[in-house]
Amino acid sequence: MQVPSTTVYPNTWPPQLKDGLRTPPSYKEGGLTIQPILQSGDSSFGAEIQGVDWSRPVSGEVVQQLISLQDKFAVLVFRDTGLDDERHIAFTQQLGRDLEINPFFYGRENDRVGNPYLWDVSNINIDGTTVQPGSRRWHHSRGNALWHTDSSFHRPRAKYSLLLSHGAPARGGSWTHFADTRRAYNDLADERKAELDDLVIEHDLWHSRRLGAPDAFNNVEQPSITARHRLVQEAPDGRKTLYIAAHAKSVVGWDQTESEKLICDLIDHCTAPEYVFSLEWLGGGDLVWWDNRQCMHRANPYTTGMTARDVRRATVNDDGPLAYGVVPKGEAEGDE
Ligand SMILES: [Fe+2]
Repeated sequence: MQVPSTTVYPNTWPPQLKDGLRTPPSYKEGGLTIQPILQSGDSSFGAEIQGVDWSRPVSGEVVQQLISLQDKFAVLVFRDTGLDDERHIAFTQQLGRDLEINPFFYGRENDRVGNPYLWDVSNINIDGTTVQPGSRRWHHSRGNALWHTDSSFHRPRAKYSLLLSHGAPARGGSWTHFADTRRAYNDLADERKAELDDLVIEHDLWHSRRLGAPDAFNNVEQPSITARHRLVQEAPDGRKTLYIAAHAKSVVGWDQTESEKLICDLIDHCTAPEYVFSLEWLGGGDLVWWDNRQCMHRANPYTTGMTARDVRRATVNDDGPLAYGVVPKGEAEGDE
């Protein structure tokens, strides 16, 4: 099977002037300055936002303004926020009351951060050393370097992810890459769209772990952590989008070979350079907030020469009608 790309993309932050495209102009809206990142016609993807006062709780009015910007851009970047764990969680709770609980928190694995609402997605062990090849966290990180949406295998799935940097970025640069699944869907041929419209995809955590680190996970029994979702969904702004990820294991009702081909083709399509930008982490306090329902993302793979990279994620569970996806027959409430 063709494994989804693990290419390390070059830094494209600030936006590169390529193919004659110009950096989109910034604009002001209330007290905020918005710098779009990728622009194509009416479609915008990613924006850096300045003007939020992070020294105090963000007002309800600004939160609503930011949610509207989020619906439009799918990825919002804030620099030098000065947020700590507590205020990171507090702001995330302003975006949705139900936060995802980190299943590794309760003493089962790395508990360096010590908060059930934060996922330690750093490369730092509890004793301060950096994660090295052969460890469980190293193997897990290989899956995070594949294009994905967070927790598409959970019921409920993730809506927003907010990743906050603490301390200096890793030596040599540190990036997170984002792909616009709305524009990618829009650019498909009409016949292709018609083929995809009714498909349902099964997402499985261990599928992406096996793709990322087959030697570590291929022959290991793991508990099933799956959810089924429609492939084509509606983004908050009403455009259609592809809900797909490295966790996407199969098309329900299709044989495995055909499933894998379609999923890989679509991930390749969505991550073509015209749909992607790469966020460079510049310093502690940098915050990126994305909507898992309308974009994909990926980390850079860990390397043995990498210095410490301390990033922590808070996640808002989806509370919308598609949060639990398409419930398989026999599992619906009331079924025996
Ligand atoms: Fe992720």
